[in-house]
Amino acid sequence: MNINTKEKIIAKLLSSQGEPLSGQKLAEEFNISRTMIWKHLKSIEEDGYVIEAIKKKGYILQSIPELVSPEQITPFLETKSIGRNILYFPVCESTQTIASEEARNGAPHGTIVIAEEQTAGRGRLERAWDSSANKGIWMSVIIRPKISPQYAPQFTLVAAVAITKAIEDLSNCTPEIKWPNDLLISGKKVTGILTELQADMDQVHSIIIGIGVNVNQSIKSFDETVQSIATSLKMETGNDFNRAELVAKIAYYIEKYTDMYVENGFAPIKLLWESYSGTIGKRIKATMLTETLEGVAVSITNDGVLQLKLDNGEIKGIYSADIDI
Ligand code: BTN
Repeated sequence: MNINTKEKIIAKLLSSQGEPLSGQKLAEEFNISRTMIWKHLKSIEEDGYVIEAIKKKGYILQSIPELVSPEQITPFLETKSIGRNILYFPVCESTQTIASEEARNGAPHGTIVIAEEQTAGRGRLERAWDSSANKGIWMSVIIRPKISPQYAPQFTLVAAVAITKAIEDLSNCTPEIKWPNDLLISGKKVTGILTELQADMDQVHSIIIGIGVNVNQSIKSFDETVQSIATSLKMETGNDFNRAELVAKIAYYIEKYTDMYVENGFAPIKLLWESYSGTIGKRIKATMLTETLEGVAVSITNDGVLQLKLDNGEIKGIYSADIDI
């Protein structure tokens, strides 16, 4: 079955505004048989769309599923490049793994790999990422900035600020960024970001920004092991959110801040990151592989390294750690 034709039929149903769409006319327009049109409609129904067939008149769309498919995201997009190529999976192991492969094979700047469900979602430090079906946003964005690899960590901060802004716009909640890249609301994790790099010594080939946003989960949707530390936008506000709209808003801000980075350098992004930070200025405990340090988080460097002022006044750079505040 031609996926393109199916997407075009969905687009027709969406834009028909309650007017029945004739099966005969669809068949003529796409130059396929009426049986083939019927098969497409069945497949569309399997995706959760409710279609009413009216005798001798045609088909009317009664309701659409809340999905993060390209058909649902694209109408919300306000970007030039981010999200203009979307690879969508009802279920996959990890969008990050697929995006890495796609990036190696030349996927264009701005490609989004997105899934309704991940069976092996990956978090930082080889941890698992709870990504149950149809409730959250599980996506990986491929960007190809023309920079040398030493600047790549700055894009992790670009992503954190972009997602914070998108959540703030649509939910009226302002997440706090917990270094390096967790977004928290009421002290609980609403978003995790996993940034991976493909580069040689001189230049970045691609940066893959893996984004997990807890959107419409209730506490019971989370695995027991994370129930005490995770939250969702629905749990915080009592509202259900249109995930496709949020995906498009995240794409919008990733593009906006990537453009800002290209025009004005890292300084304005760093300022934004610091204004949303829940870590800077606080006394923290940083647990690393070999030691645990306590002190006051004073700033981040241009590479995203956390500067920790110990009680003896010494400043230590923290590259990777679990932070307790
Ligand atoms: C973390 O906080 O540890 C980062 C979590 C990142 C999860 C996202 S969900 C989409 C993408 N695919 C993955 O397997 N991981 C990232």
